[in-house]
Amino acid sequence: MNEPQIDIRQKIKQLVAQSDPTAWFEVLYADSQGDANQVPWAKLAPHPYLQDWLINHTPQGEQPSALVIGCGLGDDAQALATAGYQVTAFDISPTAIAWCQKRFPDTNVNYLVADLLAIPSQWQQAFDLVFESRNIQALPVNIRSQVIQSVASLVAPGGTLLVITGFRETEAEPDGPPWFLSQSELAMFAEINFTEVNKLPFLELERLHLRIEYQRQTAN
Ligand SMILES: C[S@@+](CC[C@H](N)C(=O)[O-])C[C@H]1O[C@@H](n2cnc3c(N)ncnc32)[C@H](O)[C@@H]1O
Repeated sequence: MNEPQIDIRQKIKQLVAQSDPTAWFEVLYADSQGDANQVPWAKLAPHPYLQDWLINHTPQGEQPSALVIGCGLGDDAQALATAGYQVTAFDISPTAIAWCQKRFPDTNVNYLVADLLAIPSQWQQAFDLVFESRNIQALPVNIRSQVIQSVASLVAPGGTLLVITGFRETEAEPDGPPWFLSQSELAMFAEINFTEVNKLPFLELERLHLRIEYQRQTAN
């Protein structure tokens, strides 16, 4: 999540305090009434560090599959489809998914409402590429291990997991949202047999972020 404007930040803090860790997203999207300025992470463009990655990583094979987690308003999913992936994109918010379908009526992306914490069984280890941008950090630290396990479970053996996240240089729990990831939290990916292929630090709104490419080992 980017740094929201101050009044939206206060609104998000109130929503987080009032509801379970995922229920407030739908409230925020619905309250925005189609105004993307009210959705602090929505830039109506693909993430520049996804676009940069796609320049140097052309899809291998015939239409490999890609899954976009917490796809928001759909720009990253559209970029992956344009690059040649067969894309499934999901979000917990029905309003966000309806918004994607309205923005991209002729899309070949399969936009779906689904919950990362209750993923369909047929998605287990099913996707050649999984794109996870700024969703883990949007969920509280006390469910981090569960969220990371869920993200990891979607990647096919030998497949790629591309993560974009804010990074915190201390293990102390931050005052989120967002709750940027720490070194020990990122280490969970290695513990579940993901190899780090590439890590690129960058600044977003003057805060340290990482783009990390992992590969799932073939036997696990
Ligand atoms: C901070 S936004 C990031 C959106 C997008 N990935 C990006 O980088 O711009 C988090 C997104 O994850 C979605 N989300 C939150 N919890 C989820 C869950 N349990 N399952 C699926 N989507 C979820 C929210 O509705 C929201 O669209």
